[in-house]
This record gives sequence, structure tokens and C-alpha cells, in this order.
Amino acid sequence: MSENEEVPAAGHSRRGVLKAGGVAATALVSAGGVAKAAPAEPGGAATAAPPASTADITLRVNGTAHQVSVECRVTLLDALRERVGLTGTKKGCDRGECGACTVLVEGRRVTSCLTLAVMEDGREITTIEGLAHGDRLHPVQEAFIRRDAFQCGFCTSGQIMSAVACIDEGHTGSEAEIREWMSGNLCRCSCYPNIVEAVRDAAKGVAR
Ligand code: FES
Ligand code: FES
Repeated sequence: MSENEEVPAAGHSRRGVLKAGGVAATALVSAGGVAKAAPAEPGGAATAAPPASTADITLRVNGTAHQVSVECRVTLLDALRERVGLTGTKKGCDRGECGACTVLVEGRRVTSCLTLAVMEDGREITTIEGLAHGDRLHPVQEAFIRRDAFQCGFCTSGQIMSAVACIDEGHTGSEAEIREWMSGNLCRCSCYPNIVEAVRDAAKGVAR
């Protein structure tokens, strides 16, 4: 026996106990949820996860009221796309970084991927589908087309919604100001010069 191997206690060496303990710990970690879901009482059924709480809310989108029942964790973005069926609002990063999901709530721009649907119960929501009047496009939409302010188009609905608010907010005094107040909307195709021109045109009424 080496000097590091102590005398077995009750038939087990320290090394043996540690090895056995490691195996047991690994088994517990591997078991994970199985261990947590073990029956509370002998012979009882496994404890089921509690149902996620839901809420009945009214999403007022583009002037139409939609009654929906959603889990409280559902984002406004997912509710708009999957429950209301308006897919013009895009999911880019899904974590508030790209602006592709921008919509207006009571006229203010919000990133709908960071907003819970239940927070907007009864409030007026405007999406890209609500800007045009019939066949008549919104001036910002016309300006984006005239200035060719998109390439793949994935960011465009968010850009346009943000531009509408940017103009309403009066943040269009200069190219630098437009760039600053549109900086929450990223464009992977890098159409920024054209987007700025479109916003400036629409702000000046050029597209009207
Ligand atoms: Fe919402 Fe990117 S999808 S900010
Ligand atoms: Fe492609 Fe903006 S047009 S990401």
C-alpha cells in the first residue's frame, strides 16, 4: 500500500469512496429532471409541471380588435404573427437588437420581441399592414420604393415603422439626426444611405 492510500475503513478506502461518490453524483446529474419529477408519494404519479398561466386579451391591431387567449410569456411579436396572422412584422434577432420587429403602440415605436402581448391589452397597435389606405401607400412606403431603400427587404417593415415614428417625433432635421434616431434598426444589406434619403424625402413631403 502506498503512503497515499489510507487504511480501509469498514472495507472501503477513501479513493474507493470518492470513486463511488463520483459515479453517484454523475448519475444524479444525468438523471436531472427525472430526479425532480420523482413521485412525491410512494406509488404516486410523477408531479406534472404546472400549466403556464394564460390571459384573455384584446389586441387592437390596425383598427381591428382581436380577442386572443395567450400564455403570459408570449411576446407581442409572436402574438401578431402566429395568433393574429400578420406576418409583415419580422423576427430577426428576437432579443431587441435589430429592430426588424418594430411596431407602433399608441403611436410610439416598440420592439415587439421584447414586449409581452398581455402588456398591450386594449392598446392601439399599428403594424406595417396598417399603413396603406387600400391601394394607396403611406408616404414613407412610397419614399422607400422611390429611393430603392432596401435589398432583401427583411428589415424593411421595421425600418418603415421606425421611420414613421421618427418623422412624427421630429427627428429629421439633418442626415446625422436621422441616422441617430434610426440607429435601432439594422440593415444587413447596408442600405443606410438610401434609407436616410427615403426618410428625409418623406419628412419633407417629397413623396406625397
Ligand atoms: Fe426584435 Fe430584433 S427581432 S429587435
Ligand atoms: Fe436586407 Fe435591410 S434590406 S437587411
